[in-house]
Amino acid sequence: MQWARQQVDRLDARLLLEFAAQCRPEALIAYPEVLLTVAQWEAFQTLVVRRAAGEPLAYLVGEAGFYGHQLAVSPDVLVPRPETEDLVDWALMILQGCRAPVIADLGTGSGAIALALAHARPDARVIGVDVSDAALEVAESNRQRLGLQNIEWRCASWFAGWDVAGGLDLIISNPPYIPAGDPHLSGDGVRFEPMLALTDGADGLDAYRALAAGVASHLKPGGWLLVEHGHDQSQAVAALWAAAGLTDVVGRQDLSGNPRMTGGRRDEVGGK
Ligand SMILES: C[S@@+](CC[C@H](N)C(=O)[O-])C[C@H]1O[C@@H](n2cnc3c(N)ncnc32)[C@H](O)[C@@H]1O
Repeated sequence: MQWARQQVDRLDARLLLEFAAQCRPEALIAYPEVLLTVAQWEAFQTLVVRRAAGEPLAYLVGEAGFYGHQLAVSPDVLVPRPETEDLVDWALMILQGCRAPVIADLGTGSGAIALALAHARPDARVIGVDVSDAALEVAESNRQRLGLQNIEWRCASWFAGWDVAGGLDLIISNPPYIPAGDPHLSGDGVRFEPMLALTDGADGLDAYRALAAGVASHLKPGGWLLVEHGHDQSQAVAALWAAAGLTDVVGRQDLSGNPRMTGGRRDEVGGK
């Protein structure tokens, strides 16, 4: 641990040691005299070196926490972020009073949002969509891990080639929104995540345009479109929602006070 603490922070060092030694946190405290095997020590050193080079802890241990669940993650999916839990909270609030809602999570990645909603609302039917087959394999492993039956997956680009009879009560998405060339793309940790999950390779708004274009044909009258976006994109996304005929367009801040979510509702009478 002394060696590891010189390379990475204390919590990461402890979590990597637990992972390499396959032991629970309390065992490190209760049995400090137990020696690692040579194989465990070598594995620990490799993990610490990789973490020190910027690889996300979640990829090294193969798991990340989201909305109270431990999800499998791999370099094929974005590591779910705590801010996205605020989007789930908002969705659950909006769905109060809506019985057996039909929900689509577009750009589902590890399935984080879809799984959290399906778990919290066992009466819902949840469809997780991603253009990446590899991401959907991770999402399916998480579905099995949580034992959820009310989720299905579609491999598609946004709304292309799939539909739900009767329409959706909620479309939710945390799409790739970092503009091409943004320095965040090469930042610590982020540079190990899939480019497809981070950026549209353009101005960061392509996914919102695709979502706005699909609401009239996919949302039920009265249904909501809720998204996460970058801290400087709220006005652009709100303008897209308004242009798509959505009403009650409203933004929300994340727990740090940044404008990171925007929602809008399709008119009860069908809207545009
Ligand atoms: C920012 S990640 C979000 C992952 C997950 N929803 C979360 O919040 O942790 C965006 C996801 O959108 C997917 N994606 C990118 N382009 C897409 C497209 N054209 N159609 C569907 N999904 C797409 C990526 O593969 C990635 O899984």
